[in-house]
Amino acid sequence: MTRLSKVSFSKLAAPGKGVSVVLAGTDLALGPIAGEVASKLEGGLERAAGIAGFKGKKKSMMNLIAPGGTGLDRLIAFGIGGPDELQLEDWRAFGGAVLAELQKSKTETATVVLEGPAGYEISAEAVAEFAMGAKLRAYVFDTYKSKKAEDETEKDLSLTIAVADPRAAKKAWGVADAVAEGVILARDLVNEPPNVLGPVEFADKARELEKLGVEVEILGEKEMKKLKMAALLGVAQGSTRPPRLAVMRWNGGKKNSAPVALVGKGVVFDTGGISIKPAAGMDEMKGDMGGAAAVVGAMRAIAGRNAKANVIGVIGLVENMPDGNAQRPGDIVTAMSGTTIEILNTDAEGRLVLADALWYTQEKYKPAIMIDLATLTGAVLVALGNHNAGLFSNDEDLAGNLLAAAKASGEPLWRLPLSKDYDKLIDTPNADVKNVGGRWAGSITAAQFLQRFANDVPWAHLDIAGTAFGAPKDDISQSWASGYGVRLLNQLVADHYE
Ligand code: BES
Ligand code: MN
Ligand code: ZN
Repeated sequence: MTRLSKVSFSKLAAPGKGVSVVLAGTDLALGPIAGEVASKLEGGLERAAGIAGFKGKKKSMMNLIAPGGTGLDRLIAFGIGGPDELQLEDWRAFGGAVLAELQKSKTETATVVLEGPAGYEISAEAVAEFAMGAKLRAYVFDTYKSKKAEDETEKDLSLTIAVADPRAAKKAWGVADAVAEGVILARDLVNEPPNVLGPVEFADKARELEKLGVEVEILGEKEMKKLKMAALLGVAQGSTRPPRLAVMRWNGGKKNSAPVALVGKGVVFDTGGISIKPAAGMDEMKGDMGGAAAVVGAMRAIAGRNAKANVIGVIGLVENMPDGNAQRPGDIVTAMSGTTIEILNTDAEGRLVLADALWYTQEKYKPAIMIDLATLTGAVLVALGNHNAGLFSNDEDLAGNLLAAAKASGEPLWRLPLSKDYDKLIDTPNADVKNVGGRWAGSITAAQFLQRFANDVPWAHLDIAGTAFGAPKDDISQSWASGYGVRLLNQLVADHYE
């Protein structure tokens, strides 16, 4: 697989060798540089376009090999459609689509001329989104492919992007590249096999953010026992691998301003526990730490771009296993908040982990807002499939800001309701609350459960069970793990908290 090893920016000029990509608008509208290249072809480009039916439609492509008179090995005309329809997310998708075409051509260097025809504006941000799309598209998880070195198609691609203002593009890329690195980190964490990435190893990965200036603190079993986190510890007790709670703090904002708190479900593997899951597809439960991965990825992005905000990330790391010491259906535990929880299904474990993580976060850090991310329910897949994460919130402003950030980042959210009537579904005669509702509205009753541990802090819960992994491949992701949530959280912080 061709990897993207380098992205650099240069001044606009007509490339005279190698592989080059130029943009074409609707009806084959070309910018000055593309026009210059085309003129060397003496009408060949127009003729080829006529034969191929290439009209510059959005994401259409025409690939000319060794076009005479240009000196190029390959000229790819990439369609961008009309100027009015172009959004930042289009540039991200273009970057992905162009990268895929370059991978097919097996070249080691390529120049993309990012210059629109007259009337098209390509901002530095659009250039950066293009580069981000290429970088995310190039991602592959092949750590455990021992034969890859023998594959002759294994190549590194160095991409040069020629733009009107390379300095501005470079600056914008500095920011976008940090975000892309965060997405890639989240993907790697979710893709890693569960034997390699247990709670301790995951916490070590969080610790690595210290290199970027993030303060990291890791609580072990002893500390959590002292804090009376019996809900989280109850899930962990069926595993021989001990739990961890990792706290990451980025202090880029004003000294005394309350932080944004991000909380993640980090179940490194979810067998269901004693309420064990069926065998088919259980391997996918290695991704049940997708919420924690998104939080670590978001912290990576925020620290990497030096965000002027105070952000903390808290992740509860456990493994849900069924051994002789595992918790049973019928057990009653007392969470850190003092709330007693009757466990009726040990497979509803994520909410137990988050109950203590949320309570600890709001009590200790008094955040301005608190957002948790969790691969929490299969029911959210029934409701929304792979294309939207479920949003729940006790706060209208926060919900609105998140929906706006979802639109801007291209990581979609759909809001679902919370109410007293749903909340009643998790009452039980035996304790303060039970950990499962009835058959219906499974994602909502899970969210109602979490709300009881948010303690009136403006809070939102994102159920990412359908979006964190297993979503269809697209222009910017060919990976099982999508890294969903990193761009969304980064956008929210950028737009509202710095
Ligand atoms: N981790 C699962 C949810 C999940 C399912 C994530 C599919 C991704 C894909 C969660 O811990 C779980 O098992 N939830 C149960 C809850 C039920 C027991 C109330 C579920 O969704 O079936
Ligand atoms: Mn479960
Ligand atoms: Zn789970």
